[in-house]
Amino acid sequence: MQKSIKKVGVLTSGGDSPGMNAAIRSVVRTCAYHNLECVGIYRGYQGMIEGDFIEMGPRSVNNIINKGGTILKSARSSEFRTPEGRKKAHENLVKEGIDALVVIGGDGSFTGALMFNSEFGFPVMGIPGTIDNDIFGTSHTLGYDTALNTVVDCIDKIRDTASSHNRLFFVEVMGRDAGHIALNAGIAGGAEEILIPEEDLGLDRLLESLQKSKASGKSSSIVVIAEGDKIGKNVFELKDYVEANLPEYDVRVSVLGHMQRGGTPSCFDRVLASRLGVKAVESLLDGVSNFMVGLKNDTVNLTPLVQAIKGKSEIDRELLRVSDIITT
Ligand code: F6P
Repeated sequence: MQKSIKKVGVLTSGGDSPGMNAAIRSVVRTCAYHNLECVGIYRGYQGMIEGDFIEMGPRSVNNIINKGGTILKSARSSEFRTPEGRKKAHENLVKEGIDALVVIGGDGSFTGALMFNSEFGFPVMGIPGTIDNDIFGTSHTLGYDTALNTVVDCIDKIRDTASSHNRLFFVEVMGRDAGHIALNAGIAGGAEEILIPEEDLGLDRLLESLQKSKASGKSSSIVVIAEGDKIGKNVFELKDYVEANLPEYDVRVSVLGHMQRGGTPSCFDRVLASRLGVKAVESLLDGVSNFMVGLKNDTVNLTPLVQAIKGKSEIDRELLRVSDIITT
């Protein structure tokens, strides 16, 4: 029979994302609501290895629902990838009396959680937190909605200067392996073309499309490109390539970078974080382990961690068609 849970550890790991604090708050307060103790673990798995813990109660998460980043800090721990590192981390959890773990992070963090569970039988529950939205089993990861709004705001501003100077802008957005941000923010920002890792547009088609848009009377254009796009050139090489082949274009590049990961979480991310935190703790209390809490059709659901890691979060291909049509 599974040991009953009395003390829950919570950590944030991998790239931070807006909404992580709201999720920590929800986990801590759900624990308090159910008379469980809660311990915050600093710097993800690295803090687990070093025993960098803090007792958390409902008042220790006051005034953080509106804050970007993570008060528990985040890290990518190479030591946790070793059996010795994980053993140390386990010893620290046992010493502290922690008997379940909520991991807020992306697929790398979930892989660590799963490994930890298989080695020590330790109950773990994942909450998807990454701006990339590249986790299978949830329509939205924490921070994705906020990042989209940040990117759209930036594109709007770039559009002002692009149209004043009749320029073409390449705007690079985050998304190492996934085009969710580029595709959605590209449509919302009225991008001429959207380049994403999931779809190889090809250099010829890009040139064709830009030529067509010039011929149709457009004086300025925005092309949104995901950082993981596979067109074969980075965004600066792409600028040179387009200028060399289409001299009528005056091209500029804007790489939005890490600003996409910061900022005040949107209402959507705060509500999502609050819902997922409650579900994560209550699932652990119900004896469920090795799952990720997520959102499907606006309902909070559970996906086995192994599927969340292995599955692919597909882009909505209909959006590619929509984008093609509305840029005519
Ligand atoms: O949070 C995900 C992500 O934003 C990716 O899109 C990006 O490639 C990566 O993080 C960069 O993170 P870091 O600079 O922390 O390694």
